[in-house]
Amino acid sequence: MTKKAIILAGGAGSRLFPITKIVCKQLLPVYDKPMICYPLATLMLGGLRDVLIISTPKDLPMLRDFLGDGAQLGIQIQYSEQPKPNGIAEAFLIGEKFIGNSGASLILGDNIFYGKLDFFREALALKSGACIFGYQVRDPERYGVVEFDRNGRAISLEEKPKRPRTHFAVPGLYVYDEQVVDLCKSLRPSARGELEITDLNLLYLKKNELQVKLLSRGMAWLDTGTQTSLLEASNYIATIEHRQGLKVACLEEVALRMKFITCSELAKTIDQLPSGDYRDYLRMACDEGPTAGPEPVG
Ligand code: G1P
Repeated sequence: MTKKAIILAGGAGSRLFPITKIVCKQLLPVYDKPMICYPLATLMLGGLRDVLIISTPKDLPMLRDFLGDGAQLGIQIQYSEQPKPNGIAEAFLIGEKFIGNSGASLILGDNIFYGKLDFFREALALKSGACIFGYQVRDPERYGVVEFDRNGRAISLEEKPKRPRTHFAVPGLYVYDEQVVDLCKSLRPSARGELEITDLNLLYLKKNELQVKLLSRGMAWLDTGTQTSLLEASNYIATIEHRQGLKVACLEEVALRMKFITCSELAKTIDQLPSGDYRDYLRMACDEGPTAGPEPVG
């Protein structure tokens, strides 16, 4: 459907205060790397190489310092400001020029997916409309919530309902066709003063152009919104990485695997890295080449 992708890394991170006083949430560590590596890896593993990162005026320079223009990863990264927390759907208005008439995917900078990403690739392969996902959680009231009919078709969507109709939360990964910018222009701020992503999805639902795919239990969609869930996400990643001796969301490795960069390009990046585990790991990935061992997930 589209090759363009937006990462929205906004928000005040107020629930994580005081650790977010200096560094934005999306740059906090999830085990051994900044949080934003995980959603960026998800996009890259979906085959997307044209990325716009949107964040606050305060945090954007730090994100830019960390990821640069993407050249070392064989991708293009641009940056735009969201001056005020006016809601997730505002990302498409901010990104209007970047999107052009091609549609866009959006991933939230604090969403971590670990598992086989076929569901995302299938969504990207759709010709038109929008595709979002459902994931069973214990505490759906914290999220957008989707309800299905007997045939598995979505029939309702509610943003943080007090009494959720189901346990299916809508993760922060969305795929939209070229109608997205115009539809966002017709949205009005919600009671909490935001352009809600759920309202955008409702517009597609009303037009009968919304697909909601349920993610399998084998997929991990991790929350990073509170101190406890952030620690749990770190522990989850640490457990997988220790067991396999492989890294999750190691961007340079993903770039090599996806053939966005060559081994000799990676070797040049490695030369600039400080000595340590990360450099040793990349050296190993470089020596083994882009097709060795199991494909990266998440
Ligand atoms: C946002 C969306 C919500 C979605 C969630 C996923 O919530 O509004 O629909 O389920 O992201 O992370 P927020 O991050 O504003 O709490």
